[in-house]
Amino acid sequence: MNISVIGTGYVGLGTAAVFAELGNEVIGADIDPEKIGKLNKGVMPIFEPGLKEIVMRNVERNRLKFTSNNQKAIKHGDIIFICVGTPPKKDGEADLKYVEQVAKEIAENAESYKIIVHKSTVPVETGEKVKALVKKHIKKGIEFDVVSNPEFLREGTAIKDTFEPDRIVVGVESKRAEKMMRELYKSIKAPFIVTDIKSAELIKHASNAFLATKISFMNAVSRICEISGADIEKVAEGMGHDKRIGRAFLNAGIGYGGFCFPKDVQAFIKIAEQYNYDFQMLKATHNINEDQKKHFVETVKNKLGNLKGKTLGILGLSFKPNTDDTRFAPSTFIISELQKSGAKIKAYDPEAMERSKEMLKEVSYGKEPYEVAEKADALLILTEWNEFKEIDFEKIKNLMNSNIIIDGRNMYDPKSMEELGIDYISIGRSY
Ligand code: UDX
Repeated sequence: MNISVIGTGYVGLGTAAVFAELGNEVIGADIDPEKIGKLNKGVMPIFEPGLKEIVMRNVERNRLKFTSNNQKAIKHGDIIFICVGTPPKKDGEADLKYVEQVAKEIAENAESYKIIVHKSTVPVETGEKVKALVKKHIKKGIEFDVVSNPEFLREGTAIKDTFEPDRIVVGVESKRAEKMMRELYKSIKAPFIVTDIKSAELIKHASNAFLATKISFMNAVSRICEISGADIEKVAEGMGHDKRIGRAFLNAGIGYGGFCFPKDVQAFIKIAEQYNYDFQMLKATHNINEDQKKHFVETVKNKLGNLKGKTLGILGLSFKPNTDDTRFAPSTFIISELQKSGAKIKAYDPEAMERSKEMLKEVSYGKEPYEVAEKADALLILTEWNEFKEIDFEKIKNLMNSNIIIDGRNMYDPKSMEELGIDYISIGRSY
């Protein structure tokens, strides 16, 4: 099939690569010519395990092309995926201007039947808006369908998630579009859920909001653990064996980040507001998440006292491991707050240091964890990269000014750390 993907960010690039790998002729378009230039040379704009290999393979096979000319992509695709950003406005509402611009452009340049699919997370009723816009601008006699096919991939496992999704959700209004979407996904083994467009849109927002709520719930419980002396890891294990609850997403920490949960929770609150529903539960999810970051800063201050002139080593900057993404990463807030209190920051992250430089000022960076630990008054773990599991703590202890490690991701066993002579503080574990 001829597929076009407009917008080559995390979702778009992964989608384009995977559909090409499945044997389709794919064009990926982006308004950023620099990004397209790099992609054509095999330079990935983001770090995503497995992405480069699959992009390169399909570019070489001539099944995947990149262009900064949207019109060319629109002419090519029988199915056109809109994968442009839906960034948050100041009040949290999703900004649909890029989706709308692309929808208009598709309408103006379509010369044959097109299926216009939105994959980006969008508020319920966006499909209706896209439909009205396309109808207004499309040439007479040219047919089209609008489809909602939300993406559930996670950064860091985007390729695997796209090949092996838990489910495929397709919101459609016509049998013709449903048939083509089924054909497109026929080689992916996963439940194929067909709904109306609005329900598909809501499935995405509700899924992300639910997962974020699961995390905030556990972060709230972790606070009770800290006060009462219980252990959040044991609580999560005991809860997780209940099949109705499940162990996934029960990890307490320094709060969720990234470009999905924070903005989707806010946007869902806004949508509810527009329908005159006060989504109190999601407001609490958001507030608990904000509070968890502040609580971590307080924990550091309580342990170290006055931070003026103290040096803090930071391990991990990305919002989670296996990505270089630092958007809405808890590290950004935490580091800025610690700096405001006078701390000097030395940081290391396996992939996210370049991106962090765009957001953080006056941070010095190390080439490896030991460099960051040198003469540090405390070491703070902000992302649970696998690499940090292998750290030699004897060596770290000798390099640091103190033996204090404050772990925002519960990476280590408190008892083993005590045996190593580390003054170890983690989340929801009073050990
Ligand atoms: C998420 C959804 O999982 C995905 O389905 C959707 O398409 C996009 O948003 P992603 O943002 O890549 O994916 O990250 P995810 O792995 O879900 O983690 C989100 C945040 O929650 C991270 O900051 C992570 O550290 C945090 N998290 C996750 C926890 O704090 N505890 C957990 O138990 C799980």
